[in-house]
Amino acid sequence: MEQDPSVLAIDRRRFLDWFLGTSVGALLVAIFYPVARYLVPPKVEESTALSVTLDIDPAEIAPNSGRIFRFGGRPGILVRTPSGELRAFSAVCTHLACIVQYRPDLSHIWCACHNGHFDLTGKNIAGPPPRPLEAFAVNVRGKQIVVSKAT
Ligand code: FES
Repeated sequence: MEQDPSVLAIDRRRFLDWFLGTSVGALLVAIFYPVARYLVPPKVEESTALSVTLDIDPAEIAPNSGRIFRFGGRPGILVRTPSGELRAFSAVCTHLACIVQYRPDLSHIWCACHNGHFDLTGKNIAGPPPRPLEAFAVNVRGKQIVVSKAT
């Protein structure tokens, strides 16, 4: 028994419509999903620590330098400004949560992932980061540094 050729043509057409429709849909998802992920910052859990004491002699931190430390379960960055002031921030970039670093050549904080820049108050000044870095309070206690969440 032979099948009607017009039925075969309709089946082929339906298959092609379905195939092209889903391919275009998959292509659009493949293009726009990474773009949306790039533009929308992830939710980053806050550190539960309120304060940490660092066994770092403040005199060891040279002006115009930075150092990463652990603030509870999250990284923080301790910065000695070119004028000698100690400051601390969350080291989690507000864009896509990479770890920032201090750039002595620029005298500010930089995120290598997408070229995000933060000034020495933690303010986002260039690149994609949408918000400033969280700033912490810094107190020197002898040869230790106490970093606390600002209240
Ligand atoms: S994660 Fe994109 S600029 Fe920091």
